[in-house]
Amino acid sequence: MTNLVAPSILSANFSCLREDIEMLEKGGADIVHIDVMDGHFVPNLTIGPVVVSSLRKITELPFDCHLMIDEPDRYFKRFLDIGIQYISMHMELEDKIEKCIEITRSYDTKFGLAINPETPVEKLIPYFDRVDFVLVMTVHPGFSGQTFMGNASFKIKKLRDMGFGGIIEVDGGINAENASKVRKMGADILVAGHFVFDNNVEKAIKMLR
Ligand code: DX5
Ligand code: ZN
Repeated sequence: MTNLVAPSILSANFSCLREDIEMLEKGGADIVHIDVMDGHFVPNLTIGPVVVSSLRKITELPFDCHLMIDEPDRYFKRFLDIGIQYISMHMELEDKIEKCIEITRSYDTKFGLAINPETPVEKLIPYFDRVDFVLVMTVHPGFSGQTFMGNASFKIKKLRDMGFGGIIEVDGGINAENASKVRKMGADILVAGHFVFDNNVEKAIKMLR
């Protein structure tokens, strides 16, 4: 089991992403979590491969792109070609999963399936041996700063009980109070937006660890 912290730049100041990413680097972040939203799969719109590609040049930190978009298969290659270390799509888009797994096969990037709070965790079973990681959502995707949904976090333990041996990432409302709880359930990577950027970055990352 690993113990990694992946701050989400959705809570950063988008007019100075370089400074904010440098601040994450200095603060001890392990991974940069990048939320890609299309205004269809989720009500919010964020950034695409053009911006991610510019950001790739300013840091050595691994990038984790969380795609909350209706057509991940159309954009997967664009993201993978940038040289990112983790990529996830939503498992609710079941008919796109095979194609995205196939596209990722020729890259070094880890492939993950993200699961919404209301989606039953059993749906992931057929993919256990083909995904590197599962991203358990503990808020409804779309916005940072929402309240952690304790009920959804039990999926982490359930995944471990069902024998999932890959990486488990948890995303949504993570803070100092619930961090140790989700770690104990078996989470390897903690994503946090609001908690990291609304506090002293270095202290917040230490607390999450
Ligand atoms: C929500 C995003 C999250 C979000 C987390 O749709 O997937 O990554 O930025 O932010 P907090 O930690 O503030 O819930
Ligand atoms: Zn996310």
